[in-house]
Amino acid sequence: MHKYKIAIIGLGTVGLSVVQILNKHKNLIAQRSGVEIEIGKVVVRNKKKYECHNLPLSESLQEVLEDKSISLVVELIGGVDYPFEIAKKVFAHKKAFVTANKAMIASKMQELCKLSKGLPFGFEASVCGGIPIIEAFRDSLVGNEILDFSGIMNGTSNFILTQMEEKNQSFSMALSQAQELGYAEADPTLDIQGGDAGHKLLILAKLAYGIEAKEEDVLIEGIEEIELDDIAMAKRLGYKIKLLGIARKEDEFVELRVHPALVPYDCMLSSVGGAKNALSVRGDGVGEMFYCGLGAGGDATASAVISDIVNIARLRECASYPFPAFGSFDFYKHFKLKDRGEIACQFYIKIEVLHQSGVMAKLTSTLAENGVSISQLLQEDKTQSAIIVILTHRCEERKLNEAFCKLLSFDFVLGNPRKIRVYE
Ligand code: HSE
Repeated sequence: MHKYKIAIIGLGTVGLSVVQILNKHKNLIAQRSGVEIEIGKVVVRNKKKYECHNLPLSESLQEVLEDKSISLVVELIGGVDYPFEIAKKVFAHKKAFVTANKAMIASKMQELCKLSKGLPFGFEASVCGGIPIIEAFRDSLVGNEILDFSGIMNGTSNFILTQMEEKNQSFSMALSQAQELGYAEADPTLDIQGGDAGHKLLILAKLAYGIEAKEEDVLIEGIEEIELDDIAMAKRLGYKIKLLGIARKEDEFVELRVHPALVPYDCMLSSVGGAKNALSVRGDGVGEMFYCGLGAGGDATASAVISDIVNIARLRECASYPFPAFGSFDFYKHFKLKDRGEIACQFYIKIEVLHQSGVMAKLTSTLAENGVSISQLLQEDKTQSAIIVILTHRCEERKLNEAFCKLLSFDFVLGNPRKIRVYE
């Protein structure tokens, strides 16, 4: 049987899982793929720390690069600049490259594609952990124009929101638990402020539409302001709150956004709890497809890393690997990023006000003056104040923001009013 030797850079949660699964399923993988994957080197910063694992450890990337028997290098250290340097060196030494690094892929995919010069290059694990969504966009759905896709792309946020909803747990307690379980990024603000989901959205948008959007051009909001009250109120209205990444194509414009959203109970995304990720993708031929699975954690991410390794090992004889996804990204040049102010949806507004006559009239007339139409309105009285919840009809971000700023300026408004978008 053909042997294929790889090196792994980084032995954190995902690196260890990759090693363990490759050992545990060595025979199964060989039987299924016809290739025996051998770990030639594992590069770590401090060999002593990992001696107990009985692995071919090294502290030198150069040693790996110069080893002609190693055909593929897996980067699992995170960050952007250093992994990018590693990728460049790996390609320069004519080796294949696999990474789980969404931050690097989101910002440098096109450069890496060029640098690879047709050498195999895999990043399945960079989006939604174990869900084979890159393969779906690149191969399975190749006969479709992607009309839109939306989904839960961050396991940590989904875990936190689920704990808040089902266990009435505080935000910080749920975040600590997610960190203990190995779901969160080294810097968890990336999870809770939407940056991690943003990276994944940008990668998929690039594959689906060839769009060259930067993080700062895209509407990205996190879940750190969501309170237990919002979750309870959403429930009363028939919704769950989820952090969603959304991409929609309309003529030559593509809207891209990441934010918490009220998701109706009858939408499949609302039933996806815990650290799971899910994506609903609509192709013009196939219709709606729904992908769901663990989006975080060592073994789920390792499952995707191993799929890249084995796919590349199988294709080793090919002169060029079938990437980029749909041939050349130039094909998509006609797509433009939609201005975020023009993105339209329904909004949930929660506002605490003093008990005064005329308050409701002022709130509703302010919305009306800015072209925001009301679909539902709830008032819950407290002793000194009232909570008003308004569901608007679909309206543009710009109009809603202008109205919202005016609402903030009224002196009968208490605390911080909240606005959350509704998923349709
Ligand atoms: N921290 C990420 C998440 C996992 O919580 O989904 C890897 O992308």
